[in-house]
Amino acid sequence: MDEDSRIATVDDVPTDSTFLFRVRDHDTDEEKEAIIVRVIDDEDANTDSPGELACWLNYCQHFTHIKLDKGSGAPMRDGEVICANHGAYFEKDTGMCTHGPCEGAYLQAVEVEATDGGVYLTDEDYALVGVGPGEQDDVDLSSNSNYEF
Ligand code: FES
Repeated sequence: MDEDSRIATVDDVPTDSTFLFRVRDHDTDEEKEAIIVRVIDDEDANTDSPGELACWLNYCQHFTHIKLDKGSGAPMRDGEVICANHGAYFEKDTGMCTHGPCEGAYLQAVEVEATDGGVYLTDEDYALVGVGPGEQDDVDLSSNSNYEF
């Protein structure tokens, strides 16, 4: 496996939250964030097996500029990733929204593979940029309160 595509070690992926990294979309040259989740979160099931992982672009399907993982892990409950904005729930293994304003919609998948203790980006649509969040580009409308009209 190409070391340039190595995202993290399997152990870096938390069992109860998401692992955040960045990719570049080959088509648009745009940088995007993605999250890795453990589909099988029983670490003791087979210590040689990394457990199955899933990877999704880090954007809610209700408002697609809203990030699920805002830099410190997306909240999860009962095997589902939760959008903190309006409470949409996404199945961690299928990416389908089971509850919330975008029910029935799917997160966009990114292909990764776990092998020899490492997690690798195998999706030909993307190049690996790095781990962690990108530039914080969320518009904070509350900052307008500093303006005097
Ligand atoms: S932006 Fe995610 S549920 Fe509304």
